[in-house]
Order: sequence, then structure tokens, then C-alpha cells
Amino acid sequence: MTKGNETKITDELYAYMLAHNPPLDAVQRELVETTYARLPDHAGMQSAEEQGPLLAFLVRLTGARHIVEVGTFTGFSALAMAQALPAGGRLIACDISEEWTAYGREAWAKAGVADRIELRIAPALDTLRAMPAEPHIDFAYLDADKGNYIAYWEELVPRMRQGGVITTDNVLFHGGVTDPRATGGAAAIQEFNNHVSADPRMDSVMLTVSDGLTLSRKR
Ligand SMILES: C[S@@+](CC[C@H](N)C(=O)[O-])C[C@H]1O[C@@H](n2cnc3c(N)ncnc32)[C@H](O)[C@@H]1O
Repeated sequence: MTKGNETKITDELYAYMLAHNPPLDAVQRELVETTYARLPDHAGMQSAEEQGPLLAFLVRLTGARHIVEVGTFTGFSALAMAQALPAGGRLIACDISEEWTAYGREAWAKAGVADRIELRIAPALDTLRAMPAEPHIDFAYLDADKGNYIAYWEELVPRMRQGGVITTDNVLFHGGVTDPRATGGAAAIQEFNNHVSADPRMDSVMLTVSDGLTLSRKR
């Protein structure tokens, strides 16, 4: 086997990387800090800081106009993606928590992108299944309950336009994916990763960004 990435990401290197990325704007920064201050027990769910500019970059790169997010929490990733949409673009944000997404609603309004984001509070599987069956989604971000990842994938893939991209978070599950005795979320992600890498409808690459990110493009 060839060797993998030999650069260990120390705190110093991580700070260096952030310093060479586009900085978060004032609304993004306030949202990240408010999430940590008000929801300290849950803030670890927020997408990592470098994922905001990365998602925005991918939205611009793909020219996406119609985005679906599965798992919104306090709205950081939705904010970054919505800000990168062209005029007339739409983002459908799926979550089950009114409480957590309320922080997002406030930030989206402050950033002037609330009119581009439609928040649907319901189990995401119901929201996805109610969407038109034909391909119409340009970009999707999958970042919710891990046990449903394969079900979300199966609802998303047929609805993706040719060339559309699904970005999936937490595909390394804090390292748990290499444990042969994995249970719970780690086992669900193992199954998901096997499912994705064997799916002939999509080209996929797994990246070691943050907790692992897979980019999948519809053939
Ligand atoms: C990891 S967090 C999302 C983080 C978000 N992308 C961000 O950048 O801040 C996962 C979210 O999935 C939501 N969730 C869990 N189960 C769900 C379900 N069945 N349907 C929709 N959302 C769900 C949770 O309420 C939580 O807000």
C-alpha cells in the first residue's frame, strides 16, 4: 500500500491553514461563537470552520442553483452555501429542531440570505421523499443522523442532476470506521462508505478534511 498523508495536523498547522483560507465574515463568526456559547454540549456538531469556505467554493465551482442540505443545526453550513448561490438560487434546509435552527434563521436574516433558504422542519426522509422525483438538485450537503445516511443517499441520487455533487460529512467518524467491531454511528458510516464507493451512478472521492468528507458527482 502506498503511504497516505504524512502531514500530521497539529494545532499550529490547523491555525496556519485557517489563516490562509478566506476568513469567516462577521455574521458567520458570530454564529459560530454564539453556537459554542449557547449550546456548548452540542456545538461539536457544527461543521468545522474550514468547511464554510470549502462548501462556498464548491457551490461556486459547480454553479449550483438548487441546493439541499440534510442536517442544518444552527445554520452555519447553510449560511456559507446560501451566500455562494447566484441570484435566484435556492437552498432547502432539512432539520427536526426548531430550537437549533432558530439561530440559523436569525443569522440568515442578518446576512441578507433568508429569502434564499427554505427551512423544512420534519424528518429529512419525509422532506426528501416529497421532493420532485426527477433530477433537479445541483448540490447536496449530507450532515445529519448517520443511521439514515444510506436512505438519504438513495433519495438524493436519483434527484441529482448530471454533474451534480453530493458532499457528505463525518465519513471518518472520528476514526471509528476502521474498527472491525464498530457499532452505532461508526458501523452506519462503514456501511455508507461501502455503499457509496460501490455506487456506479456516482464518482466519489473521500477526503481527510476535518472528520472526513466525501465528494460524489453524478455520472
Ligand atoms: C451535525 S448537525 C448539522 C450541522 C450543520 N450542518 C452545521 O454546519 O452546523 C446534525 C443535524 O441533524 C439533525 N437531524 C437529526 N436527525 C434528523 C432527521 N431525522 N431529520 C432531519 N434532521 C435531523 C439534528 O437536529 C442536527 O441539527
